[in-house]
Amino acid sequence: MSVAATILLETKGLSVAFGGLLALAQVDLTARAGQITALIGPNGAGKTTAVNAVSGVYRPTTGRVFFKGEDITGWKPHRIRRLGLTRTFQNLQVFQNMTVLENVMVGLHLSRTRGDRYLAPWRRSPAGGLDYEFVWAMFRLPGVGGQERRIRERAMATLEFFGLTDKADWPSSALSYGDMKRTEMARALVGEPTLVLLDEPVAGLNARETDEVAELILKTRDTGVSVLLIEHDMNMIMGISDQVIVLNYGQLIAEGTPAEMQQNPAVIAAYLGEETD
Ligand SMILES: Nc1ncnc2c1ncn2[C@@H]1O[C@H](COP(=O)(O)OP(=O)(O)O)[C@@H](O)[C@H]1O
Ligand SMILES: [Mg+2]
Repeated sequence: MSVAATILLETKGLSVAFGGLLALAQVDLTARAGQITALIGPNGAGKTTAVNAVSGVYRPTTGRVFFKGEDITGWKPHRIRRLGLTRTFQNLQVFQNMTVLENVMVGLHLSRTRGDRYLAPWRRSPAGGLDYEFVWAMFRLPGVGGQERRIRERAMATLEFFGLTDKADWPSSALSYGDMKRTEMARALVGEPTLVLLDEPVAGLNARETDEVAELILKTRDTGVSVLLIEHDMNMIMGISDQVIVLNYGQLIAEGTPAEMQQNPAVIAAYLGEETD
């Protein structure tokens, strides 16, 4: 795929400090339309921090974030979501006492509507995520939900894409861990975002499940959704990424094609250094 494709997401000098710790230092990221861009690096490199700063969970300490040519720095998560940027969480946010279908329908409500504007600050989870159960309860009220049938059909189509049709009415607590990861991806994709940020979608999965999710990510890209794939495991991304960006200790140390990254001395050193920790 051509690297001349349109830039969808761009950060310029993005930094995030936690007290004295600079988790992200002057990072310029680029993700292009129609591509799978992998953001990789050892544990603690700043990958999740970058996702949080881009999706509005954290406000960058310095630097700017541009999406679809708009400066979205400091925007609230729901506004960024409505512009077409969704995400999954490294720590799953699947709601156990809701069905699989309900978990996915919530994603559609959030994308198409005012979303977390309904949420008082004490309803937000400490991680900066949403209290989906509360959102769901709100949308069940007469006059708030609306268009219930079409929302249900759209969510069912997304479940089919993810191979979860048979489990639509299961309580999500009954799902395997792999199916919970899929449910979370389905919720991020049901609203047909322009760009989805996937934070370690295969962490904790076995080899077969990892291959299946890799296929789903390729299929997702082929439906026209661009992907920023955060992964810890360099092997998994080599087969499916168009471009790779490598972070280490909060800094961008390399970017290029998967083949280029496999040969890159700085990248090899970062991963070898980790293994000898
Ligand atoms: N909310 C936070 N408060 C303080 N330190 C944090 C917070 N989130 C992340 N960090 C620190 O920032 C660094 C980068 O973390 P993170 O972005 O989670 O890395 P990665 O996702 O690449 O493993 C780590 O040193 C981590 O301990
Ligand atoms: Mg992380």
